[in-house]
Amino acid sequence: MAAAKAEKPVGRISWVNGPVVRARQMTGFRMLEMVKVGEEGLIGEVIELRGDLGTVQVYEETSGLRPGEPVTGSGALLTVELGPGLLSRIFDGIQRPLEAIRLASGTFIRRGVDVPRLDRSLRWNFEPRLKSGARVTGGEVLGVVQETPLVEHRILVPPGVRGELAEVASAGSYTVDERMAVVTGEQGERSLTMCQEWVVRRRRPVLERLPPSIPLVTGQRVVDIFLPIAKGGTAAIPGGFGTGKTVTQHNLAKWCDADIIVYIGCGERGNEMTGVLTDFPELKDPRTGHPLMERTILIANTSNMPVAAREASIYTGVTLAEYYRDMGYHVAVMADSTSRWAEALREISGRLEEMPAEEGFPAYLATRLAEFYERAGRVKTLGGGEGSVAIVGAVSPPGGDFSEPVTQHTRRFVRAFWSLDKELASARFFPSINIIDSYSEYHGSVAEWWDTAGGIDLGELKRQALALLREDYKLQQIVRLIGEDSLPDEQRMTVLAARLLKEGFLQQNAFDPIDMYALPLKQVRMLQAILRFSELGRVLVRRGIPIYRLRDMETLTELRRMKSVVANDRVEMIDDLLDRLEREMKRLFPLEEWEPGLTAEPAAKTAEIAEELMAGHTRDELYETARERNIPGRSTMSKEELARRLAETEAGSREEEEGP
Ligand SMILES: Nc1ncnc2c1ncn2[C@@H]1O[C@H](COP(=O)(O)OP(=O)(O)OP(=O)(O)O)[C@@H](O)[C@H]1O
Ligand SMILES: [Mg+2]
Repeated sequence: MAAAKAEKPVGRISWVNGPVVRARQMTGFRMLEMVKVGEEGLIGEVIELRGDLGTVQVYEETSGLRPGEPVTGSGALLTVELGPGLLSRIFDGIQRPLEAIRLASGTFIRRGVDVPRLDRSLRWNFEPRLKSGARVTGGEVLGVVQETPLVEHRILVPPGVRGELAEVASAGSYTVDERMAVVTGEQGERSLTMCQEWVVRRRRPVLERLPPSIPLVTGQRVVDIFLPIAKGGTAAIPGGFGTGKTVTQHNLAKWCDADIIVYIGCGERGNEMTGVLTDFPELKDPRTGHPLMERTILIANTSNMPVAAREASIYTGVTLAEYYRDMGYHVAVMADSTSRWAEALREISGRLEEMPAEEGFPAYLATRLAEFYERAGRVKTLGGGEGSVAIVGAVSPPGGDFSEPVTQHTRRFVRAFWSLDKELASARFFPSINIIDSYSEYHGSVAEWWDTAGGIDLGELKRQALALLREDYKLQQIVRLIGEDSLPDEQRMTVLAARLLKEGFLQQNAFDPIDMYALPLKQVRMLQAILRFSELGRVLVRRGIPIYRLRDMETLTELRRMKSVVANDRVEMIDDLLDRLEREMKRLFPLEEWEPGLTAEPAAKTAEIAEELMAGHTRDELYETARERNIPGRSTMSKEELARRLAETEAGSREEEEGP
């Protein structure tokens, strides 16, 4: 935002309509050029040029602006400044640090305040990573700066720059304005500082797009297990008023395993942003123990700020995210709420008297949404590393009606859709994500990760859990008509197990110190325990054990509470709980013969088959067979274990063939 020089074109305001201003004498301007409007120099962008007449959208409050006042060009498009000093800061929609604005203008923010976007007074300890004489291209790491204790900021050669490093600064402390390197190339000589500008509406280039095969682990069980999102993926959280969009976004921002978080508060009430401002500085990263703010950038554009800046805040946020991606980080962007941005588009479009499309939104609404979500992705960076930007947008359909345009268009561009349910929310069942209406297209892409990293075939667990939920969903319709008591015990067992799954697993309290986030291992163990209860319970009920005796089991109460009792680093407590569950079942119901699979010991027959298998096959061959038979956790098993698990399946199928 350099001060306008004398040769910059100057137009004259002819018409003011809220955030939209028209001016004459605008022939010297470019489309989307950043301009200063009026005596106070309010920041705006040229959005239409027709002959001598230009239209500008203004990112600050325009009251008091009068015809005749100047519109001054900058010669540049709306940009952000990229460099150290972004993390743990709060910016407005056009990247002005709120703290600096406050210092410059007092608590009541004055308009047209010109504050530097990156702090000029800070000195950063630079460590070069390249020597002079090296050939460089855009995206390479020139040197590093420890931006916060959590994050190393990699100073990148800007995209498009190529040549020989004629000069590099030696290790030492510098401000973002000092010259750090000189590159000589075909374009001549170019000096580089630690900061670079980038046009917000333009994507930063990458070498290659990669498939989204690593999950973004969020710590929210319903998401991670049933509706996963990948690093570099996209998700929408649509939900009516008060259904938990903001709390869900906050949860993701707090606990997801991205390296960097960009949180865009877009047009929501100020107090929701205050929640972030007061909460975040106190939160600690569960993996490092450091304050979460050290990896977070907040962009605040609340409902009392000018509507036009909502659009800028979205672009600013995603550009900052791409910049950290290019350093080789996994970044997650939260935007709350994209509906407020769409409403701003509608308002501006209305003032421009454009032809409206559905419900008054401009016809280009879909394109804008698509352009935003398309900036997500997992990529090979110009520097050759790997990074990603995941985007999670909240959508607030008026009246919770998902058929409105913003929800419908968003649905086309995201691959995970977490639909919030009014009924669940009013029953205080949080997160109020309705599994039946929601979906994720990332199940297949992240399966391999769970299998190799977690050693767990999550697919099988998910199938069982979903089957249980689906069966329960059908039964609930009957229950509503005739009551649970009239169901046969076997179906009541399904209802009992499904309730345990819903209340003990899917429901997760954002304000419970233990339950607020769950690491993958805890999630899986919990699910295994619940399904084990379901499996054993069914066998017993089939053997004629009355359902009420199962319902009164002590260990069932423990299963219900394990989410807020078992800490993430005490997962072995669940194994112990499972032991006690089986013992309690056996004590309560001393059946003569427990069916195979109900005892911990493999049957003698299984051991024999395992011996046979071991003798004739290599581990690779066993693994292949295990893969065909879909044995959970196969990739981390030893040869012995693989043989034993294979033998079990074989013993099972032989028994079926032989019959009882
Ligand atoms: N995961 C959760 N755990 C516990 N409580 C929750 C959870 N999610 C939401 N809530 C409760 O629901 C309330 C409303 O949630 P939230 O403010 O996130 O809704 P919203 O959809 O963002 O609403 P609005 O449409 O007003 O923006 C919260 O104040 C909180 O009490
Ligand atoms: Mg909200």
